Amino acid sequence: MAAVIGVLASVAFAVQAKAFDWNLVVPHTYPNISACASQPLSYSCENTTVIADTCCSPTPGGLVLQTQFWDTYTGLESEGQLLPQDSWTIHGLWPDNCDGSYEQYCDFSRQYDPDPSPSVLPDGTPVPAYRGVSVQSFIVEFARFDLLDYMNKYWINQGAPNRDFWAHEFSKHATCTSTFDVACYGPDYQEHQDVVDFYLAVVRAFQKFPTYQMLAASGIVPSNTTTYSLAQLQAVLKAQTGAVPYLGCGGINGTILEEVWYFNHVLGVEQFGQFKSVDSTTTSTCNTTQGIWYYERTSTSERDVRTIPEGFY
Ligand SMILES: *[C@@H]1O[C@H](CO)[C@@H](O)[C@H](O)[C@H]1NC(C)=O
Ligand SMILES: *[C@@H]1O[C@H](CO)[C@@H](O)[C@H](O)[C@H]1NC(C)=O
Ligand SMILES: *[C@@H]1O[C@H](CO)[C@@H](O)[C@H](O)[C@H]1NC(C)=O
Ligand SMILES: *[C@@H]1O[C@H](CO)[C@@H](O)[C@H](O)[C@H]1NC(C)=O
Ligand SMILES: *[C@@H]1O[C@H](CO)[C@@H](O)[C@H](O)[C@H]1NC(C)=O
Repeated sequence: MAAVIGVLASVAFAVQAKAFDWNLVVPHTYPNISACASQPLSYSCENTTVIADTCCSPTPGGLVLQTQFWDTYTGLESEGQLLPQDSWTIHGLWPDNCDGSYEQYCDFSRQYDPDPSPSVLPDGTPVPAYRGVSVQSFIVEFARFDLLDYMNKYWINQGAPNRDFWAHEFSKHATCTSTFDVACYGPDYQEHQDVVDFYLAVVRAFQKFPTYQMLAASGIVPSNTTTYSLAQLQAVLKAQTGAVPYLGCGGINGTILEEVWYFNHVLGVEQFGQFKSVDSTTTSTCNTTQGIWYYERTSTSERDVRTIPEGFY
């Protein structure tokens, strides 16, 4: 892959301003699931027969959670790591088992997390810390600068660089999601193809659940003077997505809104399939009797991530 980057650099230099065909030098990132066309189709966790080809439907992790954070700071503001204005941020895309239990760090040959959490699995197996090049460079290998730009706007870490968080999410969760198994990419698998494919799938899933806009559409906006009730937050999100998501709160009495997890069954593959909202299997940690704070962010922790296309004016 280093050779490919070298070629890219020289091609870019040679053609200078002229557009060139990335496809000539950069491999694609999608799996080879041509065999799925002949498989029975059902929503994950709703199959009535055995799923024979696990590249075609996420299993056993068929309860798919798209998770998000509402943070008010990143801790790395001085380095330009800021939160996107008018948006929650991506946490990940998790493969829970149909009963709500889950697996983690399922393939140590794809362990890219520099700071594994947990560092020891429930069965006592230690998770080795990764010391190689960052997953950010995997995205560059496939020339997905558009993806990298989006991730740096919406997939924000707290207290450590974004790339560490992205690595953690892939190695802890995607390695346990069957549709991202290396075998699903076929004989022409290119190393790290699965990583980029997963990040693209996470972004697509995140875009299905614009939490900030869904709450704002019901008059629920961040405020340091008004609180909202848990029931009110759940009701508006249910009205819009069709199911009750998990809402996570912090603070002594569970009164500070911090996260949301949207639960889904998926028809088809996790990369491209249809998501169906289902109710959370986890009880909210938010206080049911006290008001919930949905805090405004410190203005210096945010930035406007909208961009004006070139030549717009
Ligand atoms: C995908 O895999 C099948 C075998 O399952 C193979 O016949 C086909 O050529 C592969 N397609 C591509 C585009 O690699
Ligand atoms: C659904 O598929 C999984 C994976 O093959 C299998 O373990 C499970 O038994 C299937 N469910 C039913 C009801 O057949
Ligand atoms: C927790 O709730 C109790 C009872 O309403 C209240 O006295 C206390 O101040 C609250 N603590 C915080 C940190 O909000
Ligand atoms: C909710 O707040 C009450 C105080 O009003 C406190 O006693 C209770 O423990 C809190 N519940 C949670 C889940 O923190
Ligand atoms: C709102 O309150 C939170 C929590 O105390 C604080 O971090 C934030 O800076 C406040 N935002 C504004 C705009 O005052």
